[in-house]
Amino acid sequence: NKQTILQQLQQVRVLPILVSDDVDQAIRCVSALAANGLPVVEITLRTPNALTVLSEVVKACPDVVVGAGTILTAAQLDAVRNAGAHFGISPGITPVLARAAGESGLPYFPGVGGASDLMLALEHGFNVVKLFPSDVVGGVKMAKALGGPFPDVRFCLTGGVTLDATPQLLQQDNVLCVGGSWMCPAGLIAANDWQAIGQLAAQASAAGRVNTA
Ligand code: 3PG
Repeated sequence: NKQTILQQLQQVRVLPILVSDDVDQAIRCVSALAANGLPVVEITLRTPNALTVLSEVVKACPDVVVGAGTILTAAQLDAVRNAGAHFGISPGITPVLARAAGESGLPYFPGVGGASDLMLALEHGFNVVKLFPSDVVGGVKMAKALGGPFPDVRFCLTGGVTLDATPQLLQQDNVLCVGGSWMCPAGLIAANDWQAIGQLAAQASAAGRVNTA
């Protein structure tokens, strides 16, 4: 459920984002991430085969918490739930999608770029949100500024996040976690270099733990 997923994100604090259209490569990539300290992953709906990739990863990696990202429509939300996703994430928020997510019961994190998006999210009961694209809309400064009027909201900073930036971003009180695709570069996936991906995951995992008391 949502509480469990929040606890896990709060523990690892780094959410790797995978863009892959190949079931076998996705399973190997997710396994390498999980084996190196990143047991919660997001698989984006950005490839034609993404729903199949998602459902096969869920089946093959029962110990991994698998989220679906890039959910843009209520139909996609239904589809990822049927594919077995444990949670859903969007880059933004619309009233239609927020309502559908609330009714679906699937743990869900809408995306926000500023205060108005956040007010819409809160109207639908979502107080953990993805700040996207984080590096463009202000990152940790934005999270800090929004913490004034919205003290109960927590953010997952995503978009342009790097390994080097991670420890500092995670220092901000209302930043729950960071998300990013840097641990799963397309070149390493294409080369089937799971060892290198495992190393990137281990570094990211260590960066996520730097500020954990
Ligand atoms: C996303 O889907 O949120 C982005 O791909 C993450 O951004 P990044 O690729 O810059 O890490």
